[in-house]
Amino acid sequence: MPSEELDVSHSPKQDAGFHVAIIMDGNGRWARRRGRPRYEGHRAGAHAVRRVVETAPSLGVGTLTLYAFSADNWRRPVHEVQQLMWLFQRHLRSERTRCVREGVRVNVIGRRDRLPPALLQEIDSIESRTRLGRTLHLRLAIDYSSRDALLAAAAHLDRRSVRTREGFRLLIDRVTHAPRGTRDVDLLVRTGGEKRLSDFLLWESAYAEIVFTQRLWPDFSAEDLASAITDFRGRERRFGGLPAADVSEPRTPSRLAEGGR
Ligand code: FPP
Repeated sequence: MPSEELDVSHSPKQDAGFHVAIIMDGNGRWARRRGRPRYEGHRAGAHAVRRVVETAPSLGVGTLTLYAFSADNWRRPVHEVQQLMWLFQRHLRSERTRCVREGVRVNVIGRRDRLPPALLQEIDSIESRTRLGRTLHLRLAIDYSSRDALLAAAAHLDRRSVRTREGFRLLIDRVTHAPRGTRDVDLLVRTGGEKRLSDFLLWESAYAEIVFTQRLWPDFSAEDLASAITDFRGRERRFGGLPAADVSEPRTPSRLAEGGR
């Protein structure tokens, strides 16, 4: 049987601008500090989502991936999960027209088989109506687990002769319903003070710069995003190489074979 080689040569051009991914943490604490139920923190978090989406393009962000609900968040009390699903559904519906108008292309990444039908309907609707958006590519991660995505992609390997990182990345995109051609994460931000990755975009963040901030997500402002991006822009990204100033001549594998070190 001929092998099913994934065609990576015809991937669409990557989104312009850089890719920022955010782990939105701190909604519950934000609510608790005000003596309010957790749901109010999530609702305030939805306002922060809108603020960040509005600001991101002017800061050079082409792709924004927001971690809204991890596969492990199903362990939360049923009531909170239901409220979150309802909030996502309502947010997608209320933001649809604005996203079309502002050129924001929306995709939801993660599993689809455990989401409520009403939310699935809103996802289908916003994805199809915003598909031509070019100002910002907004990806919401819902029922998402990076390790599950890697496992699912690996399960396809015996049927497909994927030999490259790019080819494997396409498999990951396929199993998470992500559109092809999204660039790797350039800047990963986590709000709320914790310093961990929580199973988010592990493959795609291999060389991401990371910013941890104490700010609770509902308080995260346009200025906070700008400040994280200024920090990011000031860093030297080497991708395993040397600082530009230290490179006198390129060291390619063929030069090493000639005896160079
Ligand atoms: C983590 O904070 C946050 C979540 C699990 C939910 C994220 C959801 C939103 C930001 C709501 C709006 C999103 C969209 C896409 C409309 P936490 O509740 O664990 O906070 P805590 O650590 O302070 O308890």
